[in-house]
Amino acid sequence: MSTIAELPASPAAPSSSCPSSLDELFAAVIAASVKPREQSESLPAASYFDPDFLRFEKEEIFHKEWISLCHISQIPRAGDFIRVDVAEEPMIVVRSKDMSIKVLSRTCRHRGMDLMPTGFGHPDEGNQRVILCPYHLWSYDLDGQLVGAAEMQEAEDFDRTEVCLHNFRSEIWEGFVFVTLSEDIAPLAEKYATLKDRFVGRWDMAAGELVWSAHWECDFNWKILLENFMEAYHHLGAHMKTLEPFLPAKGCSTEPYDPEYSCMHLPLKESMAREIRASGDANTPFPVFPGLDIDDYCKWWVFLGNPNFLLFSAPDRVYWYRLLPTGPETCTLMTTMIIPRGASEIPDYEKILEKEIQAGIDFHMEDMEVCAATQRGVKSRGYKPGRLSHLEQPIWHFQKYLAEVIRKACA
Ligand code: FES
Ligand SMILES: [Fe+2]
Repeated sequence: MSTIAELPASPAAPSSSCPSSLDELFAAVIAASVKPREQSESLPAASYFDPDFLRFEKEEIFHKEWISLCHISQIPRAGDFIRVDVAEEPMIVVRSKDMSIKVLSRTCRHRGMDLMPTGFGHPDEGNQRVILCPYHLWSYDLDGQLVGAAEMQEAEDFDRTEVCLHNFRSEIWEGFVFVTLSEDIAPLAEKYATLKDRFVGRWDMAAGELVWSAHWECDFNWKILLENFMEAYHHLGAHMKTLEPFLPAKGCSTEPYDPEYSCMHLPLKESMAREIRASGDANTPFPVFPGLDIDDYCKWWVFLGNPNFLLFSAPDRVYWYRLLPTGPETCTLMTTMIIPRGASEIPDYEKILEKEIQAGIDFHMEDMEVCAATQRGVKSRGYKPGRLSHLEQPIWHFQKYLAEVIRKACA
């Protein structure tokens, strides 16, 4: 991948693959990304609602990058599955009989029906021994192999052993199942090597347990949520009563730009950190992830693995958000909480869990409100890109990522 240093100060010349209506928008995104941090500003309005820009993002980002789908602890038993659509590509993540995990297409190999269409009573997750198409009852095993197809005896040369659901390229990285539609993107071990070695590898997320998830259908562009997630400036306003009292905005700092990830430190309020250092105790509701040290006890972190792998990490938990676009002004979000395995054995676990889930919902509702209101704002004639605070540096990083995507696609 090229680096930001190689990005042109002005956009690449329009190519035949980039319709002219998009070129101005591409130019504006690139122009924002090449400003110095001290002059950075928010993205042009249309990037948050233009259907052509979303189509571009689907093709160049969601169909080419690694996209996180679930945590392995969500599908622990053979037959466990999770249904998910990645930019209109219907998929099912499934644990096979041999306990391996596959990401299969939900498109039936008979006449193409979505095997579990949204909105017809099919659960988003569950357990089943076979995958059954409701249309003509073709059935597939947990590896996607066709195992049953009635009344096909007169179909010449039809051999059901040759029919299998499409198996998407997938990987498990740090306990998360990722998929890509690309054949040539580098493996995650390579792509996120620095992110893991320097930062997120210290939480043993693969051994963690996802103990809460919630689904949200959102009336805003996916980048509105991503930008909201990646800056702590809004603790001052939106989270004045929830996060700001212990994770004050002004203490936050951001690691230098990297093409693959962004990382922000959120130190605890000084008096809390002093107490932790004095006692050596992280003083967290759940036990801490093994391997973290006293410095880790004194802060939270926000991570983004480009394009949309979002982690909000504390010593005793990781909030992972699965964020997927569903339209130019809509997205679907799964918010989750992962804690160290064995944490459920602490006294009063159920009560503590309930309280911590509620705390997560409380600050998330504050984010949902500001994101929905921001979507309305960016569509207004009154919107112009606004100047960013140094506390919003990860937003500027993400602009550089977007610019790289544009540059590559238009090269
Ligand atoms: S489309 Fe699935 S069985 Fe016919
Ligand atoms: Fe927030």
